[in-house]
Amino acid sequence: RPRVLSGIQPTSDTIHLGNYLGAVRQWAQLQDEFEAFFFVADQHAITVEQEPKKLRERTYRAVAQLLAAGVDPERSAVFVQSHVPASAQLGWVLECLTGFGEARRMTQFKDKAAKGGEGAASVGLFTYPMLMAADILLYRPHFVPVGEDQRQHLELTRDLAQRFNSRYKKTFRVPEPHIPAATAKIMDLQDPTKKMSKSSSSPAGLIDVLDEPGVTAKKIRSAVTDSGAEVRFDEEEKPGVSNLLTIYSALSGTSIPDLEAQYAGRGYGDFKKDLAEVAVEFVTPFRSRTLELLDDRDQLDKVLALGAERANAVANATLRDVYERVGFVAPS
Ligand code: TYM
Repeated sequence: RPRVLSGIQPTSDTIHLGNYLGAVRQWAQLQDEFEAFFFVADQHAITVEQEPKKLRERTYRAVAQLLAAGVDPERSAVFVQSHVPASAQLGWVLECLTGFGEARRMTQFKDKAAKGGEGAASVGLFTYPMLMAADILLYRPHFVPVGEDQRQHLELTRDLAQRFNSRYKKTFRVPEPHIPAATAKIMDLQDPTKKMSKSSSSPAGLIDVLDEPGVTAKKIRSAVTDSGAEVRFDEEEKPGVSNLLTIYSALSGTSIPDLEAQYAGRGYGDFKKDLAEVAVEFVTPFRSRTLELLDDRDQLDKVLALGAERANAVANATLRDVYERVGFVAPS
């Protein structure tokens, strides 16, 4: 079966609706057709300072949320990045293949480093995309399901795969990004010109899928809409309403033109009230499933142990090929 792989960082207590609609929901759908590997990127998380206790808790939370979203640990390998040492090991080899200027062009680095000044950013933040490329290439996946913000990292991954293959010997599959057309970029509810983001959205700007249902409803009702009163999809003129239509359509399965017709001649108020209900219907069971899963840590540890075993088997085989091809002496 063809393979897919993807990851998510445990940098907040809960995934948000952008993570869910842009990525995690696809993961659950893809596992029928593909051999799947999904992981929590704890090593990526420490590129910015994390409190150890919180990081550990958030890692479990992320795992529980993947399962609550329908990722099935019997069919898919669900694991934690730091349980697969080959990823950091291949990361080093790929760093040595990457140009300094090439790494510097990564817009996520530029954005994140811009906040505290480049001098204050960790070297890990700079080498992050090469670790990500390693995470991916180790599994030789056909597709990598991610949101739009990861496209540039995927392009670097493809370049590095091709570079390694031509400098040494064909070793890596050159993976394709799998970016959903409709939900690749869910926007901030308070500033719909920016993406919904754990690190930069205000609490009111993002829907945390573990929020109390009442909080979710309130956030939707107070989402920024645009001037005018017409519920119409127009990302240029009406970014706020368009984002809400995208979310509404993704959660309800009703197409955007059907929603536009349904709300023709009615105001934003009705529209937001109904969307709030749709969102509450989604978050309520999601939340209770996640909390239930979090109650049984032994079970989560079992899932992770099984996932790590499967992941390490594949990853170590690739790393052995890589080490041999770059000219490292095999340990005897
Ligand atoms: P992370 O943790 O920032 O995000 C997880 C996934 O959610 C998607 N996403 C969004 N999609 C739509 N709208 C949004 N507003 C939105 N915000 C986030 C992201 O595109 C991502 O797919 N570097 C990765 C983690 C990672 C990884 C990997 C992913 C590490 N190694 C290997 C794939 C393969 C990250 O920080 O995702």
